[in-house]
Parts: sequence; structure tokens; C-alpha cells
Amino acid sequence: MVLIELKVENTSYRTIWPSETDDRVVRIINQLALPHSFEIVDLRRAEDACFAIEEMQVRGAGLIGATAGFGMYLASLQAGNETFDQDLIRQAEKLKSTRPTASNLAWAVDRMLAKTSAGKTPEEKRTIAKAEAQAIADEDADFCRRIGEYGKAIIEEISARKEGAPVNVLTHCNAGWLAFVDHGSATSPIYAAHDSGIDVHVWVDETRPRNQGASLTCWELGQHGVPHTLVTDNLGGHLMQHGLVDMVLVGTDRTTGTGDVANKIGTYLKALAAKDNGVPFYVALPSSTFDFSIRDGLKEIPIEERSTDEVTFVTGLSKTNGELTSVRHCPPETKAKNWGFDVTPARLVDKLICERGICDASEEGILSLFPEKRKDPATP
Ligand code: MRU
Repeated sequence: MVLIELKVENTSYRTIWPSETDDRVVRIINQLALPHSFEIVDLRRAEDACFAIEEMQVRGAGLIGATAGFGMYLASLQAGNETFDQDLIRQAEKLKSTRPTASNLAWAVDRMLAKTSAGKTPEEKRTIAKAEAQAIADEDADFCRRIGEYGKAIIEEISARKEGAPVNVLTHCNAGWLAFVDHGSATSPIYAAHDSGIDVHVWVDETRPRNQGASLTCWELGQHGVPHTLVTDNLGGHLMQHGLVDMVLVGTDRTTGTGDVANKIGTYLKALAAKDNGVPFYVALPSSTFDFSIRDGLKEIPIEERSTDEVTFVTGLSKTNGELTSVRHCPPETKAKNWGFDVTPARLVDKLICERGICDASEEGILSLFPEKRKDPATP
């Protein structure tokens, strides 16, 4: 399969990469500026990586993990030779506390700590940290590419059934190239299908309150030439009732070993509508997004609660002067609530698409792809 690497004005980009000229600098695309401008930001310290994750210059499970990996590399450069291990652990805790829901964050930080601990000197640990951060990023891109190969087969089958008529995929939020290092999870099968000539069209939920669907998914699908239509979050049920959705395909920020899926707020409602209308509901994820330590998504997945300003204000380019503007759209005294994610129970998920293949959203299904996670019944 062809490497996708999204092209912006004819240049291929990953979403995070070490600077070509200074190996003490890591570069990211500032997603807060999209879709209005394409800005690259330099991270020089672990604190910059924390800021980038917390303020959502980078976001999405895979990219949060990759940024945390590079953040640990930057932390290793800052760590004193005498106090290396303590310094690194302190930065690890700070990175882990930036956002609660995506499991890739702690997974990447712990992987960096485990790997660097094998180094005998601070210098050796720094060398390991650099290689491991790159390995996390490369693996994320490769796993997403494989998700694309498996997921493409599903789209291909629907296309054949529809005798080449457009396959309509509904997606929520941005589980795209921008949410990972490359390809995306939910978008990877779409890009792969599109690149192989299948007629695929995407319904993009705008995804209130931050509108990652409108600002990010529409932008990256547009850059890649994939036909798409932006819809309000509430339209999905209506589209499904009228036979206008062939499959729902979303990403996830954390999925339990039993198949419960945390994803951007509103995903659960799409899954309910899909069930009621017999539309298959797929979730695409690399293995780094599984949390095998928990079984009950509703009770155990930490759900991020964010500023209510995201609900009470809407931000975008002003229709009158083209300037970036925030406007309040409710009375000043209105109370709001803003949970960022919800949990779709495994029973509403048809299949999971992973880098190792496609499985049922159940403990048995997941273990059939990841047998090494099967617990020895003798161990408590
Ligand atoms: O709050 P975000 O933008 O970091 O949320 C992540 C998401 O975009 C989605 O929940 C996505 O579908 C899963 S992340 C691969």
C-alpha cells in the first residue's frame, strides 16, 4: 500500500518530527491554527510538550502518545547528570497529568521510562530516549497504515455490493492523520479506499463543542481530495433513517479489554442510531489505545471535563471581517457542562479494526488478536 503522508502545498508532513537541523528540537503542526492557517511550532523543552498537549496544539490519542514520547526525550536532555532518574520521573508525572482520557499518553510515558532505565549512563539514556520516541512515532504511523489495509477491505465489500455507487461513511470528530503521526485510525481505511479508486464519500460530524470534525477532518480530507460533506452533530440519525450511511467509522481514545469504547462526546448517540437502523458501527484503533487493565468502560474510563467556555462561546472566522473571533451564543448567566468524551458499550460496536486485523468488540474477540494479553488463570 502507498504511504499516505498528507501533502500540504505539495510537501509531505507527519504531524510530529524531529527538526532536520537541530536534534534538540521537535516540530509539530499547531492544530489550533487549522483550518485557517498552517503553522509549525518548535518544542524545545518537556514543558513545551506538556503545553502542546494540554492546550491542544496537538490532540488525538496517537499524537498525544507520540508527543509524550518526544516530550520524554526533551526531558532527558534537560535532566541533570546527577539527578537524571528523579528529573525524568518528575517530567513523566507532569506529562501524564496533561489530559486524562487517551490511554496512549501514559502508555507512551511508561514505555519511555522502561526503555531509558536500561541505559547505564545519562548519556546512554538520552540516546535510548531519542530512538524510542522515534520508534513510538514510526510504530504509530505503521500501525495506522495497517489499519487502513484491513479497513479498506470493508469499504471495498460495500462498494462491490453497491455496484460502485459511492460508499457513504459517517465519522465523528477527528480520528484522522492529525490525530496520529500519519494516516489516522478512522481515516486510514478511507484514504486507502479513495487511493485505490473506490468511490467513497464521508459525512463529517462537526463535533461540538470544539468542532474537530469541521476544522480538522474536513481540512485533511480536503487536502487529500476525499469527497466529504460537513453535517451538524444531530443529523446522523436522520441520514441513517434515509439509507444515506453505509457504515459509521470512528476512532477511540481508550478502549477496554472487553471492547467498551471511549470516544469524543456524541459517539454513543451515533452508535445507538446505527443500531436502530442496522448500520454497521466500526471503531478503528492501534493497540496502544487499548487499556487492558480495565473491564468496565462506563465505570472505569476517566472522562475529561473541559472549560464551559467551549460550550458557551463559538469560535471561527468572522463573516463580516474575516478575523478569528469568539462569540457567546447564550445568555451570560447560562450554566454549561462540558464532558469531552463518552463511552459506547461493546454491545453497540460491530467490529474493531486494529493493526493486526478485525475482531469482535468483546474480550474473546480482542484476545484472538492479542493472545499475549490473556491472563494466566493461575495469576491473581
Ligand atoms: O479531544 P481530542 O481532540 O484530543 O479528542 C480526540 C478525538 O479527536 C476523538 O475522540 C477521536 O475520535 C479519537 S482520537 C484517535
